[in-house]
Amino acid sequence: MAKNLVVYFSLTGNTAKAAGIIAGEFKADSIKLDTHGKGFLKVLSHHSRKYLGREIVKLPDIDLGKYDVIFIGGPVWSSKPAPAVRDFLKRANLKGKKVVVFLTGHKSSVIAEKVSREFVEKAGAKLLGFTVLERHFSNEDVVKQIRDIIK
Ligand SMILES: Cc1cc2nc3c(=O)[nH]c(=O)nc-3n(C[C@H](O)[C@H](O)[C@H](O)COP(=O)(O)O)c2cc1C
Repeated sequence: MAKNLVVYFSLTGNTAKAAGIIAGEFKADSIKLDTHGKGFLKVLSHHSRKYLGREIVKLPDIDLGKYDVIFIGGPVWSSKPAPAVRDFLKRANLKGKKVVVFLTGHKSSVIAEKVSREFVEKAGAKLLGFTVLERHFSNEDVVKQIRDIIK
């Protein structure tokens, strides 16, 4: 059984692609986060600040305790990890876990890194590293950036 886990949210498939590359290369189980509600507009509405107090993602029914490293991925939205990612970091039991946050976006974001670190540390987990995979990333880009973090 894999000792690594990839958990990700993806609206338009970019993060899903990166998650697949990471899961394949680093022999990880993979779970796509599902959100409450239906349809694109519903998901987009999660961007609204007023939704942040509510549950956004359905927490996967899985024991995170059995994994060594948990890769958590999602898109950059308004320079931050998308609300679904923040909601997962807020509510999942990540205490004591080693976490890598990988986001996809048009460009890297200092704010996204800062916010990711805050959420991971608040969850009682250790952030091994953070990366934003910029548009048109290749398999090699993903593997190199993740390898640089967990080497
Ligand atoms: C609502 C929304 C806000 C976005 N904001 C940003 C942003 O601030 N910075 C950025 O680089 N990309 C931004 N993007 C682009 C996405 O981060 C990028 O397309 C990402 O790879 C999509 O991931 P996905 O296909 O897994 O959903 C935004 C996209 C959406 C839909």
